[in-house]
Amino acid sequence: MADYFPAPGRNHLFVPGPTNIPDKVIQAMARNNEDHRSPAFPTLSKTCLEDVKKLFATEKGHAFIFPSTGTGGWESALTNTLSPGDKIVSFRVGQFSLLWIDQMQRLNFDVDVVDSEWGAGANLDVLQSKLASDHGHKIKAVCVVHNETSTGVTNSIAKVREILDRNRHPALLLVDGVSSIGAIPFKFDEWRVDVALTGSQKALSLPTGLAVVCASPKALEAAKHAKSTRVFFDWGDYLKFFENGTYWPYTPSIQLLYGLRAALDILFQEGLDQVYERHHRLAEGTRRAVAAWGLKLATKDPQWKSNTVTAVMVPPGFDSGEVVKVAWKKYNLSLGVGLNNVKGKLFRIGHLGSLNEVSILGALAGVEMTLRDVGINVTPGSGVAAAVEYFRSTTPMIKSRL
Ligand SMILES: Cc1ncc(COP(=O)(O)O)c(C=O)c1O
Repeated sequence: MADYFPAPGRNHLFVPGPTNIPDKVIQAMARNNEDHRSPAFPTLSKTCLEDVKKLFATEKGHAFIFPSTGTGGWESALTNTLSPGDKIVSFRVGQFSLLWIDQMQRLNFDVDVVDSEWGAGANLDVLQSKLASDHGHKIKAVCVVHNETSTGVTNSIAKVREILDRNRHPALLLVDGVSSIGAIPFKFDEWRVDVALTGSQKALSLPTGLAVVCASPKALEAAKHAKSTRVFFDWGDYLKFFENGTYWPYTPSIQLLYGLRAALDILFQEGLDQVYERHHRLAEGTRRAVAAWGLKLATKDPQWKSNTVTAVMVPPGFDSGEVVKVAWKKYNLSLGVGLNNVKGKLFRIGHLGSLNEVSILGALAGVEMTLRDVGINVTPGSGVAAAVEYFRSTTPMIKSRL
């Protein structure tokens, strides 16, 4: 097998997706193809489609699994529920919300863009005033990225729902949960989300290749009337095959579905509450390390801090791209770069998926060495020590080893 840049030890993968794949998941996927029309295959399909809903905390929602990525999930959410020219309110707070808005515009929706400075969250005061003045209910959907991966910003979907309710506004609520679902609590039913979506390469710790989309009964109803052209992502096709118990309108990703089954089993064995607590703990330890280094988060206010990605500003005069480059070249550590508006200004430590305290400490030690290598004069051991003490005092015993 070609290894273009061989290095001793393992690659320490701390980009905010694609994430580390557990050995059990890799083993579950290492299998031959099989006949997806055999009487056995629907059993696997059915359990995946049912169990994946637990990550969304929904009983009312309907799950779809597409051979696709998060970007396909976006398209599925939009084209199944809306018609060309429909008015959408959406928030541009970083690179992924920017790309989703670009997709909305290219699909010919009328997007009312609410900009925030990158590092801030969605401006909900502006949402309130837009909904309050929309007496004719021209706004058909509000689209929010739950966790903006480029800046480490988590928006409150509960607050968006509260504003829709306060204004008795019937707009659909469409949510990108690509870097949140499965790592940060997501309450599809409680927040009355209409469509939410994620991709397999993030909290699910799978390869890229599945878009997991969940639709509310209101979204399914909207799909009956939505006039956007859709073929590959048409929920209607999926629903027909769902009803006849064969589940797939075209060939499913067989190995990825076995991987998904294994990934869900691993998450459920740990317990979803424990998974969310672990993500909070790893994020908080990382934030304490950043504070101990004397560096700033890109996240402008603690209300938006993300439990899946920490975006760290480098001091003026330094290039964050250099941090990422040296970490990879010298320590075999992969960090996330700054994208678009924040290129060169921040680097990102992804802490989602199959990780624990000791693996994070390795990454923090690597970051600490790299910062010093590029001339950012942090005190040796300071960030690691802050995280060590936080982890020591907050990490519970492993459930299966009590
Ligand atoms: C929040 C968010 N939304 C959407 C996407 C796009 O997903 P994909 O690259 O799987 O198409 C990403 C990718 O990182 C993301 O972080």
